Amino acid sequence: MKEIRLLSLSLKNFKGIRSFFLETNGENVRVFGDNATGKTTLFDAFMWLLFDKDSNNRKDFAIKTLDKQGNVLHNLEHEVEGVFCVDGKQLTLKKMFSEKWTKKRGSVQAEFTGHTTDYFIDGVPVKKKEYDELISNLIDEDVFKLLTSPTYFNEQLKWQDRRKILLQVCGDITDEEVIASNASLAKLPEILRGRTIENHRKVIAARRAEINKELEKIPIRIDEIQRNLPDLNGLYKDVLEDEIAQIDSFIETKKDIISNIRNGNAIAQKQKEIQEIEIELLQIKQQHEAGSKDEVYKLKARIQEEQSNLNILQQKIENISYQQKYNNENIQSIEKRLEELRNEWYQVNSEAFKHEMDCTCPTCGQALPEEQVEAARDNALKQFNLAKVKRLEDIQSKGKQSKEQKEHFVAENSKLDKEHEKLSSQIKEKKDLLSKLNNQLQAVESTIVDVTENAQYAAKLEEKQRIQKEIEELQVAANESIQSIQMGIAELRSKRSQLESDLAKFSLAEQAEKRIQELEQQERDLAAEFEKLEHELFLTEEFIRTKVNLLEEKINSRFKYARFKLFEQQINGGLMEVCETLYEGVPYGSGLNNAAKINVGLDIINTLSEFYGFKAPIFVDNAEAVTKFIDVNSQVISLVVSEKDKQLRVEFPEKQMKEAI
Ligand SMILES: Nc1ncnc2c1ncn2[C@@H]1O[C@H](COP(=O)(O)OP(=O)(O)OP(=O)(O)O)[C@@H](O)[C@H]1O
Ligand SMILES: [Mg+2]
Repeated sequence: MKEIRLLSLSLKNFKGIRSFFLETNGENVRVFGDNATGKTTLFDAFMWLLFDKDSNNRKDFAIKTLDKQGNVLHNLEHEVEGVFCVDGKQLTLKKMFSEKWTKKRGSVQAEFTGHTTDYFIDGVPVKKKEYDELISNLIDEDVFKLLTSPTYFNEQLKWQDRRKILLQVCGDITDEEVIASNASLAKLPEILRGRTIENHRKVIAARRAEINKELEKIPIRIDEIQRNLPDLNGLYKDVLEDEIAQIDSFIETKKDIISNIRNGNAIAQKQKEIQEIEIELLQIKQQHEAGSKDEVYKLKARIQEEQSNLNILQQKIENISYQQKYNNENIQSIEKRLEELRNEWYQVNSEAFKHEMDCTCPTCGQALPEEQVEAARDNALKQFNLAKVKRLEDIQSKGKQSKEQKEHFVAENSKLDKEHEKLSSQIKEKKDLLSKLNNQLQAVESTIVDVTENAQYAAKLEEKQRIQKEIEELQVAANESIQSIQMGIAELRSKRSQLESDLAKFSLAEQAEKRIQELEQQERDLAAEFEKLEHELFLTEEFIRTKVNLLEEKINSRFKYARFKLFEQQINGGLMEVCETLYEGVPYGSGLNNAAKINVGLDIINTLSEFYGFKAPIFVDNAEAVTKFIDVNSQVISLVVSEKDKQLRVEFPEKQMKEAI
């Protein structure tokens, strides 16, 4: 256990205190003084010396002395010196705060340029760093503050920090420890399945809300189903089923009737009769036309044949006429030629010799001798006569030739004449024959009677028509009766579908009933689940209660007077972490009296001091509030209001007690 005791504290120009020397000699002291005599200032000085802050943990406070008007008195040295006993060794710390005045070059007056703080350890000036290091090696600032002021823990710390310190001091409790401590929580780990209590409570809350919502919906759904239930009043399932079966059999019967009508013998029989009659009609017609038709065909064939023979003859006779015409044309042209030859002959024959010759020599042009001229003339005559004979003979020969040709054509014509005569008589014969045959044909054709006039044929035809009419009538009748049966079927069917829809109401009702049962089951299941969740919720609450009790018990067991509330039950059933100091059930923050506040603070300091292994001087400001302090292990400097003490007065209670004893 480390211990620091204050031996003395001296103040110079500190917060208006010009000079004060508090000597404690490391013992408990009580400092008395009227209001505003500087009691609290002592504590401020102590804290400033160590941590640069006042007793309210403020850094910004007026150290320098102010006059009545609030003006700073300059050029003062503000100083605090503390003499401590640290684990039996003395330590002197001094801090001096002063103004800094510098003379600028050439200037007579010094100027205020700021502040300086000087640090001394055991009278030796040191750097701030060294000074601070010494203190921080001595004790952590936060811990020191906790240990030096009974109000610091409850009034300066945030609740979270208070809680943290308490848990640190007493040790937290694990969930396993909580569960192990309470048999009724045995099943909790199984329920949590790794979730934290808080998370599981959230899951339960969400599921409960869901279940509630579903539970609210179920009656509405059931009601809706019930409102839509079909009306089964006056309906009997068995009866409906029987009626439907009966209608089905009626419909079947009617369908049979229709198919009987459709396939009925009556019409088929009559159609067969018609086929037979048609065969008979064909036979009658063939018999009827048997004789007379043959004759007509024969005559027509003969006429056709003879006509074509006649055509051939006529063609031949025409050819002969063409030949004769051609021959006559030739004869005429030959005759014309003969006429011309005759005229030519007479002309040649009548020609006489004429001598008109040139009697000069063609070479020399001298007249020829007479005899020469005579001989030439004779010769010429001779020549002339010879040529004339020759020419006549030619003409004669040509005439003879033409005459022969003419005779040929004439002969041919007479031959053709005979042929023409012969053909003409043949043509006449053929024409006579044809007219005779045509007359015969006419006669035969006029004897043929139309089959329709055949009595047997007519009777059969009539019979056919009568049967056809009967078929038509039968068909009309069949269609009508089928139609009326079908109407009957349709009626039955509509009645059947009415019955069916009534019957369907039963299955609808069954389904609805089933659905209602399902919903009711669901309702029961949800209610059971809700109950299970309720139990789980109860277990989590039980867990929390157990944990709270365990933790608070554990923590409270470490304190004599102070009690702590670490959890607060919330409206939703959850627990909120808090940290409230109580004394005899009264919360520190609301309603606790000042004496209790101080004693509780001292109780806390005792425990913390134990935990941190450190004893620091405790400054109890406003100590007049307490008539009886609890036992405290550390040095206590009590600051007590005392109206009669216009100046601070120090008492050593233990010394007095000893003296008194
Ligand atoms: N910087 C300062 N300069 C001058 N006077 C100051 C300065 N700071 C505080 N004072 C005054 O010093 C006096 C001492 O104040 P302090 O708070 O120490 O009195 P106290 O004894 O604790 O009174 P109380 O019994 O009312 O608590 C007060 O009158 C205060 O106004
Ligand atoms: Mg005071």
